[in-house]
Amino acid sequence: MKLLTSTPLGKLQVRNRIVMAPMTRNRADAAGVVGELTERYYVQRATAGLIITEATNISADAQGYPWTPGLWSAEQVEAWKKVTGAVHAAGGTIVAQLWHTGRVGHSDVRGGRVPVAPSAIGIQGQQHFTPTGPKNYEVPRALTNAEVRATIDDYEHAARNAKAAGFDGVELHGAFGYLPHQFLVDSANQRTDEYGGSIENRARFVLEVMDRLVGVWGEGRVGIRLSPTLAYNGMADSDPLATFSYLLEKLNALPLAYLHLMRATPDAERFPSWPQDTVATFGPLHRGNLIVNSGYDRESAEAVVSGGEAHAVSFGAPFVSNPDLVRRFEVGAPLAAADRATFYQGGATGYVDYPALEGDAPKVAKGYWLVQATVVDPAQFGKYTAVAGPLLASYGGRVLARGDVAEVVEGTVPRRPYFVEFPSYQAARACFHSAGYQEAIALRAGAATFDIVVVEGTAP
Ligand SMILES: Cc1cc2nc3c(=O)[nH]c(=O)nc-3n(C[C@H](O)[C@H](O)[C@H](O)COP(=O)(O)O)c2cc1C
Repeated sequence: MKLLTSTPLGKLQVRNRIVMAPMTRNRADAAGVVGELTERYYVQRATAGLIITEATNISADAQGYPWTPGLWSAEQVEAWKKVTGAVHAAGGTIVAQLWHTGRVGHSDVRGGRVPVAPSAIGIQGQQHFTPTGPKNYEVPRALTNAEVRATIDDYEHAARNAKAAGFDGVELHGAFGYLPHQFLVDSANQRTDEYGGSIENRARFVLEVMDRLVGVWGEGRVGIRLSPTLAYNGMADSDPLATFSYLLEKLNALPLAYLHLMRATPDAERFPSWPQDTVATFGPLHRGNLIVNSGYDRESAEAVVSGGEAHAVSFGAPFVSNPDLVRRFEVGAPLAAADRATFYQGGATGYVDYPALEGDAPKVAKGYWLVQATVVDPAQFGKYTAVAGPLLASYGGRVLARGDVAEVVEGTVPRRPYFVEFPSYQAARACFHSAGYQEAIALRAGAATFDIVVVEGTAP
């Protein structure tokens, strides 16, 4: 299958053309910091050719939904570092999707501040997700010209933070009716300054942001997601063909990693004048790599890639419930259905508990690992085991044997060897690099000195 072959997407060398689409999962904390569950979620899906993270707020003001992560604070960067480190240890590639929700928010999730937008035009006929249930949209406050420029600075700041956090690149979320899309379409942008009016002016915001992102990341590491024919969130442009043709032509001047193009959803049927085939209409206008999305399955994805219309295909819902989607496509296995009720509800359920195919461990030699834990106070071993044991298990690790505390003594420091089996080298690496494992060690650091020596070996 061509889907399973590697390809460069700019400077991103992806090992297959099956991309994990960006998906908001609302598992960050109130400060927009991701935790160990998020790390495990992405590591489970690291066989994707490319992971595009859930949309990630570029600033506190960008936030429109509760429990969504950010990339503006040092604490957020530190947390993402653990995720990118673990995904890389598992052999994956990961870019951050940069997000500003604009008018698609609610003062209830913004500390009482009304959402901001290009113009003071509210979304009609839809409600917004808040911690206290769905609410009608408010009329947003129009950004001043100085605020538009400050928002562009915020994108650059977040792009720098994404680099510090160890990502392989960034994707501008320019789709689905969020701030960049709001600037593009005339139903949401009625500004009279240089960011509104003509198509050239409406495209200015996106082009200036993209320029900054490329300035930070250089060639081949910045992508953009666009949905020219998606009417959701009030995106009713009078002429999407003209608007997006202009934008794509201008984007061709930048050395991008890829264009991520979303197909139309059924609500576009309300606009008979819009192009009916998004990929055929807009795909050829982009001179670089193309990732397509929305409603593809194994066969239609293979057809679009082998027909040369796209370089790769991204999958959303299928990746929620099939962490081993790549493997399932490879062997033609059936897909598990995703439970929509747990998409945004928080916690481990519906997030990290979808199993991989049973009895189908990756075809690599099992890793046998000798873990030597060194502590000053032997009484600490029990506590360490209580924390590390379940973590090993969550990566498929199993302690086959453990030695006596007194078994190995170097000077006055007792060492205890653990003999652990993992299903794969990648699983073992991902586990030992995980935030949870590091924390298990750090937890003891006050009372004990921990020194973990990991030796890869063969079966006894
Ligand atoms: C739970 C969920 C969350 C999503 N969040 C985002 C997001 O943060 N950013 C984005 O660009 N698209 C988001 N999407 C859209 C997906 O990236 C994708 O476009 C959509 O699921 C269609 O692809 P599919 O048919 O393969 O599922 C989300 C979709 C789902 C199911």
